[in-house]
Amino acid sequence: MNTFKKIEPLRAELLLQRQKNKKIGFVPTMGALHEGHISLVEKAKEVSDIVAVSIFVNPTQFNNPEDLKSYPRSVERDLGLLQNAGCDIVFLPEVAEMYGDQNDLKINFGALENSLEGKFRPGHFSGVGQVVSKLFNIFQPQAAFFGQKDLQQFFVIKKLIDQLSFPIDLHMVATKRENNGLAMSSRNERLNKEERLEAGLIYKTLQESAEAILNGIPLDQVVARVTELFKGSERLKLEYFEIIETDNFTKVSAISDPKKTALCIAAEIGKVRLIDNLLLNY
Ligand code: PAJ
Repeated sequence: MNTFKKIEPLRAELLLQRQKNKKIGFVPTMGALHEGHISLVEKAKEVSDIVAVSIFVNPTQFNNPEDLKSYPRSVERDLGLLQNAGCDIVFLPEVAEMYGDQNDLKINFGALENSLEGKFRPGHFSGVGQVVSKLFNIFQPQAAFFGQKDLQQFFVIKKLIDQLSFPIDLHMVATKRENNGLAMSSRNERLNKEERLEAGLIYKTLQESAEAILNGIPLDQVVARVTELFKGSERLKLEYFEIIETDNFTKVSAISDPKKTALCIAAEIGKVRLIDNLLLNY
């Protein structure tokens, strides 16, 4: 496994691989890796010749400086996990290497900015779009891999690829979960045993709601039931539960295309904010 801290030597190595007709699969991350991230690497390995991963805690996507400062970092451990997973290339740039003193580019994702995560974290998707565009230009991969865990981010990236004509196949990888259904996340480390157990309610709620919808229960009743369920939870505080269409992440009042419908949820437990989702046609 080759690691790079600088853009130019990385570009040179990737060019060499492309000249050998190797198909490059790219997995962007912010480190603090867990099995969810590794499942992206595994998927990338299945469909690419060379798997490249970036580890970069991107400051421009944090709207809360405290959040950026406290973001978990575990580079040595991450490199061990990537090596075991058969990753070929890792890029670990410093902030100065990525941005120098130029990081004021903004990207507006339209309707995707105004709902759920876009609304809760103003400027977040602009930062994600900025860094991912930059990484796409550095790596020039044929394929890129993102988790369903961050569903709205996936559709932000889809919009970026479609509207800026990046020649990249975008792959969505299913959410990797703990035994009780809790979606894996680096934030789960901050939960104690009881909280972790109780957080299983998030996925259970999604599953039950999807079943209710498929059984024809009206959507407003489904939403009302979720609100009630969370009122009964000792530690979990519901932030949102919405049934949306995936192009714009706007609420739907009836299901027209199950393939484009998702249930999205965010809840807080202690000081930890957790998100999850389910696509209706799972
Ligand atoms: P990060 O939170 O490190 O996530 C990197 C990738 O791992 C994302 O595509 C995310 O959806 C995926 N992922 C996280 N948890 C997962 C799980 N339990 N199962 C499957 N996939 C999971 O997302 C980011 O970093 C950043 O915004 C980034 C795209 C790297 C841009 O800075």
